[in-house]
Amino acid sequence: MLVEAHGNVLSDAIKRVQSEIDSLFDALLPVPDDTSARLVEAMRYAAIGGGKRVRPLLVCSTAALFGVSRDAALRAGAAIEAIHVYSLIHDDLPCMDNDDLRHGKPTLHKAFDEATAVLAGDALHALAFEILADDATSEDPFTRVELIATLGTASGMSGMAGGQMMDMVADEEGVIYDLPAITRLQQLKTGALLAASVEMGAILGKLPPQGRAHLRAYARDIGLAFQIADDLLDVEGDTDKAGKALRKDSEQGKQTFVTLLGVERAREQARALTDQAIGHLASYGAEAEILRALARFIVERDR
Ligand code: IPE
Ligand code: IPE
Ligand code: MG
Ligand code: MG
Ligand code: MG
Repeated sequence: MLVEAHGNVLSDAIKRVQSEIDSLFDALLPVPDDTSARLVEAMRYAAIGGGKRVRPLLVCSTAALFGVSRDAALRAGAAIEAIHVYSLIHDDLPCMDNDDLRHGKPTLHKAFDEATAVLAGDALHALAFEILADDATSEDPFTRVELIATLGTASGMSGMAGGQMMDMVADEEGVIYDLPAITRLQQLKTGALLAASVEMGAILGKLPPQGRAHLRAYARDIGLAFQIADDLLDVEGDTDKAGKALRKDSEQGKQTFVTLLGVERAREQARALTDQAIGHLASYGAEAEILRALARFIVERDR
């Protein structure tokens, strides 16, 4: 299977990007010697260490297809990861999913307090756009604006936040989602940031929008597969490996592919999406190997 054949290549790529993103956040978040020290310490607690860094790896692997510098791709990846981390901090709050464990350690509001968690999320949200607006990300102002617009759309009402809203109303009495509605929920809450990761790699590579169709199709399929895999992990996963509380979705009335289709059909659906995603990369050769392996990893992962 591809994931095994490319397992070492992929796990080396993941380890490399994990350490690069940790170093970049470390450099971007020096703790000041003033009253905002607590805020920056909280941002560092959530942003450094722990995550798989799938989104930065998608940016770097897509950007590499077009010869983009690693530093530029990592900065765009860190911007998306800052949004992702902020979304997790807020997702874990008592008013949302009410979780105590993330990345194998207490969630930010448990380690600090709720107000600090809200503000650290806010500040990471802002940091994402500060990173993209800096000319170290791209010397070309048009590229910077396109990156900012893409991440803004993927994060807001037509992206992650919009999907989180659908997720939160799903547990209200009488709200029943059908398959198209759940597909939309998942595409917004999770798919949008994953799609933005691929898109931003293409933007850095100055690939014109009309040349992005195959990459966009790949990204859409892995985005949906990624959330189905997360929902399968909630039912079948191991908490120690996942580093977060599991078996919570049905208790909290979440509506997912798994609640609608059952475990077997949801897994079939995720695998079919992976095959379809890889099919969209047919026009690329060995240079897209990591993107293919990543598509397999996304559905077979145990964390
Ligand atoms: C978890 O995302 C939340 C979802 C959007 C499904 P990840 O599984 O990418 O989280 P980390 O950052 O690797 O822990
Ligand atoms: C969260 O989805 C998606 C986000 C936008 C943060 P989940 O609520 O299923 O993510 P986990 O399972 O807590 O990581
Ligand atoms: Mg949630
Ligand atoms: Mg959650
Ligand atoms: Mg989940």
